[in-house]
Amino acid sequence: MSVSAAPVLITGASQRIGLYCAERLLADGHPLIVSYRREREGLRRLRERGALTLPADFSSEAGILAFIAELKTHTDRLRAIVHNASEWLGETPGAEAAAFQRLFSVHMLAPYLINLHCAELLRRSTPADIVHISDDVARKGSAKRPAYCASKAGLDNLTLSFAAKFAPQIKVNGIAPALILFNPEDDADYRAKTLEKSALGIEPGPQVIYQSLRYLLDNPYVTGTTLTVNGGRHLK
Ligand SMILES: NC(=O)c1ccc[n+]([C@@H]2O[C@H](COP(=O)([O-])OP(=O)(O)OC[C@H]3O[C@@H](n4cnc5c(N)ncnc54)[C@H](OP(=O)(O)O)[C@@H]3O)[C@@H](O)[C@H]2O)c1
Repeated sequence: MSVSAAPVLITGASQRIGLYCAERLLADGHPLIVSYRREREGLRRLRERGALTLPADFSSEAGILAFIAELKTHTDRLRAIVHNASEWLGETPGAEAAAFQRLFSVHMLAPYLINLHCAELLRRSTPADIVHISDDVARKGSAKRPAYCASKAGLDNLTLSFAAKFAPQIKVNGIAPALILFNPEDDADYRAKTLEKSALGIEPGPQVIYQSLRYLLDNPYVTGTTLTVNGGRHLK
């Protein structure tokens, strides 16, 4: 597929928040490119509606560069890049370094290299945006998942650097969610404890992330900002 209007690229969009945002972007009229790692049911719906779906594994530099090269064979411009791909990976004893390197690659190296190599594509669109989806946990650290947390904190920091580097042509912002959607395996006890952590006490669903993304795409005067979408967790 080749596209004429500048498409939005969203990474890791075959399920859950990424898939929801992809469907809303299509509904809002954006040509769309999504990256996916595993084939999932949601991808069929996106393809039927005209989205280009490209396989990508961001756990190594080679995988990231292969994705960028493939992307450039399909489009010479981008309206926006939404870095959503993520692994919710914990460290296990003896395998800490592998987990750290993997999370570094998915959460930091992939956005870093994609931003650097695709800036020229974004500059062919006005307006142009990069949005990093990080995690509210980076605000306070995590005793249980330090590698996940550090890599998301690093992603927040890349928002500042790329916003300065790419201004004024490209706005660069982040969204830092706390609980948005439980995973199916989360038990009742985990769910209750997690809901307790926020002042608002709800599982809001992916709509709140699309609202935040829409705001960032549409606002011409916001760059270098990370939007906290955490139900007031910082108040408790
Ligand atoms: N859900 C929440 O409540 C919550 C809370 C805080 C922050 N967030 C952030 O919001 C974003 C979306 O969350 P989510 O819960 O929808 O995430 P998710 O269900 O875990 O989906 C993430 C996607 O990233 C892809 N991915 C994982 N590892 C990859 C790799 N090595 N290379 C390429 N793609 C890879 C996955 O592909 P596969 O389909 O192959 O697994 C998956 O589809 C993430 O950045 C997450 O950190 C979510």
